[in-house]
Amino acid sequence: MKKRMFATLALVGAAALTIAGCSSDADPSDSAAPGGGGGDGDVISVGFAQTGSESGWRSANTDSMKEAFSAENGFDLTFNAADNDTAAQIAAVRSFINQGVDAIVIAPIVSDGWDDVLQEAKDAGIPVILEDRTVSASDDLYASWVGLDFKKEGVMAGEWAAEQYGSTPTKMVVLEGTTGSAPANDRAAGFDEAIAGTQIEKIDSQTGDFTRDGGKAVMEGYLQKYGVDGIDLVFAHNDDMALGAIEAIEAAGGKPGEDIHIISIDAVHDGMQALVDGKINFIVECNPLLGDLAAGLVKDVLAGKDVEKKVYVSDQTFTQEQAAEVIDSRPY
Ligand code: AHR
Repeated sequence: MKKRMFATLALVGAAALTIAGCSSDADPSDSAAPGGGGGDGDVISVGFAQTGSESGWRSANTDSMKEAFSAENGFDLTFNAADNDTAAQIAAVRSFINQGVDAIVIAPIVSDGWDDVLQEAKDAGIPVILEDRTVSASDDLYASWVGLDFKKEGVMAGEWAAEQYGSTPTKMVVLEGTTGSAPANDRAAGFDEAIAGTQIEKIDSQTGDFTRDGGKAVMEGYLQKYGVDGIDLVFAHNDDMALGAIEAIEAAGGKPGEDIHIISIDAVHDGMQALVDGKINFIVECNPLLGDLAAGLVKDVLAGKDVEKKVYVSDQTFTQEQAAEVIDSRPY
């Protein structure tokens, strides 16, 4: 009961911040970030609705969340992975509401379709924190969001492409992330914006659903249609799909990174290794270590503190040389 009152107060505070248009950049390794981790007092019950386990990025994100929402940190976590099925993810959130958890964290598979269930959580007095992906629903239906600037990731990838390949005719194919997801929408928009006016021509764009198998299957289709010689560049919305594309290009007798250049997003270990090996040409990071920030936000919201409506974690980019320097010291 006490917690429900805190939740209501926090949502009011969060709404005030929204009006002011507040957002902040955070460092995921900063233990003094919102809430600061660690737990004293009552155990906090949290339902976390994860997208699924589609990629290496997702595994690292799940590990980070489970570590942060641990019993040692004062949480009782109920974890659900929806296998990329939006209906199943919404059903998981409804079951958290029925259980009467103290707070709900969601990594929404797609942007649309969240209005009703978020309203139900709000009516039940249960604060919702979004992590990783965003939703199109009104932002007074959730307390806060923590994640990455997907559009900026697309812009950084596109700017590098424009610089490297934009002054000669370049035929590009795209491996899109899950249709309707925030990273697929925003990365595509950012990349397209950055290559506008260059000689890079997008000849095809299909979803590989952020999976290695999906990326491989779509790339096989492209290679059958255009041949190795008919494709100069692949923009993959994540490393897993780029890794699938590498397999397809090699099976077709091509050299990934040379015959067909590849740009991807995430910077997970296997992607970075492919970059070091010269099979990927450039990677934009998408930092999956959001657990401590999400846990801190949950604690702050339940404690009635004002929280930022949007907490951005910054990303960096890697060339082959830069990847070689850091690959052994990266945690994922
Ligand atoms: O939402 C983040 C994206 O989801 C990552 O880039 C991708 O690998 C994951 O599946």
